[in-house]
Amino acid sequence: MPVFQATTSAPVNIACIKYWGKRDNTLILPTNSSLSITLSQDHLRSTTTARADPIFSETKLWLNGKEEDIKSGGRLERCLAQLKKMRKERIEDKNPNTPKISEWNLHVASYNNFPTAAGLASSASGFAALTSSIAALYGLNTFTPSEPAVASPSELSLVARLGSGSACRSLFGGFVAWEVGSSLTGEDSLAIQVAPQEHWPTMHALICVVNDAKKGTSSTSGMQRTVETSALLQHRIKDVVPARMKAIEKAIKDKDFDSFARITMADSNQFHAVALDTAPPIFYMNDVSRSIIALVEELNRVSLAKTGHLVAAYTFDAGPNAVIYTEEENVKQIIEIVVRYFPQSDTNPFPDPFKLFAGKQPK
Ligand code: PMV
Repeated sequence: MPVFQATTSAPVNIACIKYWGKRDNTLILPTNSSLSITLSQDHLRSTTTARADPIFSETKLWLNGKEEDIKSGGRLERCLAQLKKMRKERIEDKNPNTPKISEWNLHVASYNNFPTAAGLASSASGFAALTSSIAALYGLNTFTPSEPAVASPSELSLVARLGSGSACRSLFGGFVAWEVGSSLTGEDSLAIQVAPQEHWPTMHALICVVNDAKKGTSSTSGMQRTVETSALLQHRIKDVVPARMKAIEKAIKDKDFDSFARITMADSNQFHAVALDTAPPIFYMNDVSRSIIALVEELNRVSLAKTGHLVAAYTFDAGPNAVIYTEEENVKQIIEIVVRYFPQSDTNPFPDPFKLFAGKQPK
């Protein structure tokens, strides 16, 4: 009897245009489009193994070695149901001799190589890896010239979205847009690749871990509160994000770092302004985060005066950790400066030592 098991990894993605707000909480349909960069596989990632076996009496999930409850009718169940339906309709019903593994229970084990739920997009890589591992187990995403994939990455992004909105973007590498869509059932709210990583290989992300504790307000409850109470969110959705999406896509196509950086920083700041405009307000950044903003703004001010160009762009998700986007030629300088101002030491006044990883080690 063959073993039905597959393991895949999916990296974290970090948004430059932030997703914040759902218009449908069950289907996870967003109130605005968003755009992110998927980090390289070598760094922050989730790795998931999925196995189907007729002897399993129930479906089980382990996260970092600890068994998790699977909530009936919850996000995980919705993802699984969708993948089972695809396997049944697209493979098993068409090929009567194929084993009906969609009817078997699954054991799924997922591991993150970084702190979970600390504003480092663990749910994005987690649900992307879960979707792609089960898709691989079900033979949905194997692509050979003679056997095209049964489900495209954009179709699988619809499944990952049901787990965690931002997860849909981690099914692609490089620069990825998640389109807001207009359908009530969500089939046009999917991820597409704006440009592969090789298009702009000199772009780097420096992940500055300010605090790796679990965050206070989850993105789900935070978003809901913002949608219910923030007037600024309505302005953002209607008047700001559509133009920003177009402008950042152009900046990426043109490899125009100055425009990319200005838009990325403005959008991070507006996302945190919207969080503050929520009642009760939500504070994701802390004093260290704000000092990093000041440092990057100062570096850019000096660089602009000297060279006419910006050197770095900060962005913060739903937590205090900073991501600094910069181009290869500046990676070494930025790391040295950040480490000088935020040294890693036991006497550091901040709750956790400042840890720094580069997308790639500088020369
Ligand atoms: O997909 P969620 O529920 O983890 O929400 C992610 C929200 C942000 O990270 C703050 C923004 C984004 O677009 O990734």
